[in-house]
Amino acid sequence: MANDEQLADGTGTSLYVHVPFCVVKCGYCDFNSYVVEEGAAHDRFLDALAAETARRWHGQRPVSVFFGGGTPSLLSPPRLQRLFEIIGSHVDLADCGEVSMEANPESFTVEKAHIARAGGVNRISIGTQTFHAHHLRFLDRAHDAEGAEAAFAAARAAGFDNVSIDLMFGIPGETLAEWQSDLERALQLGTDHLSCYNLTFEPGTRLQRDRMQGKTGPNDQEIDRAMFEWTRQRLGEAGFDAYEVSNFAAGGGPCRHNDHYWLQGNYVGVGPGACSHHDGIRVTNIKPLDAWADAALAGLTCTSTAETLRPMQRAAEALWLGIRRTNGVDVAAIEKRLGLELRAAFEPLIVRQQREQMVAYDCSMLRLVGEGLLLADQVGGDYLGVAVND
Ligand SMILES: C[S@@+](CC[C@H](N)C(=O)[O-])C[C@H]1O[C@@H](n2cnc3c(N)ncnc32)[C@H](O)[C@@H]1O
Ligand code: SF4
Repeated sequence: MANDEQLADGTGTSLYVHVPFCVVKCGYCDFNSYVVEEGAAHDRFLDALAAETARRWHGQRPVSVFFGGGTPSLLSPPRLQRLFEIIGSHVDLADCGEVSMEANPESFTVEKAHIARAGGVNRISIGTQTFHAHHLRFLDRAHDAEGAEAAFAAARAAGFDNVSIDLMFGIPGETLAEWQSDLERALQLGTDHLSCYNLTFEPGTRLQRDRMQGKTGPNDQEIDRAMFEWTRQRLGEAGFDAYEVSNFAAGGGPCRHNDHYWLQGNYVGVGPGACSHHDGIRVTNIKPLDAWADAALAGLTCTSTAETLRPMQRAAEALWLGIRRTNGVDVAAIEKRLGLELRAAFEPLIVRQQREQMVAYDCSMLRLVGEGLLLADQVGGDYLGVAVND
């Protein structure tokens, strides 16, 4: 089956490769990443990754491949090349419809962009967050605005025609005008795709600790709402398709990898802390870098936890993930795929959400509307709540 068809119905398997190193730990970030710059540690990581990938990937053609992190672009040029050789020895990257790599401005160079391109990457996502110096400082980012623009130019110089930019809005103290200028600057660069995330305070982060101590707090909610609404309007005018709550596609089209995930597709995750999903079985890798590498290098499983999702839990997750897509989620298709009757359990909630003008529902397609778009996490979270005791 062709990759596009697999994407459309969520079949096929994607591959996620987690590179867990960063130059700094950003104050808002709870991803599994480590400030480790020693080359020996990077080499050990690559050795372990080679071992784990050989165990886990069985030569099938992936729907998509995503090199994420952490900061894949932090690896030195020879190590970056080795990363693609390791994965390329199991996957024909040149034949895969979408191969994405996350790149950070402080470490992404024209040389690394060329290595990524030669290695089979065809989509670059540049973690920019904001172009304002005081907000970059607040977030602990290791780059300035010019660095972000240079990283974008490096991707273009190496021939990438699908370059995405990650931005965040709702940084404490941020004004609507500041956010508008961030978005305009990204548009001026000619980005092919934009991810615009509302900053969240994640447990265990420096930001959350500062919040508990009263040193910072969430941005004004009404300003965040205005930012969200303006973003959709402005990007619509600029010809972007708001295909998901936080994601907007221009020339590059939607990110297939994320779409596959929102469609509850199967994926294999390699690297410390990476998650995998196969037909309702969820597996999470050992999180600490050294313990994960020890297991991989000893030829042992890197799995830390494995969970078989209960049928109703699987259905609730399909709604929770799928409702983020602008096209919505097809309840009838989920019933067919999982062989379950869902309406008795979920329709009372859906009817209430419809009354509150959060969702639209035609007895099959369920999608976010109005206020629901702003409160996507809450609307989706309610579906998970229904399945807790089922
Ligand atoms: C985990 S990062 C990895 C990419 C890259 N290392 C970077 O720094 O951009 C992926 C994206 O998630 C978003 N993100 C991470 N933590 C977030 C948070 N607490 N709130 C909102 N967005 C967040 C950021 O926009 C970031 O670019
Ligand atoms: S946001 Fe990116 S660079 Fe910052 S700590 Fe998280 S993964 Fe690392």
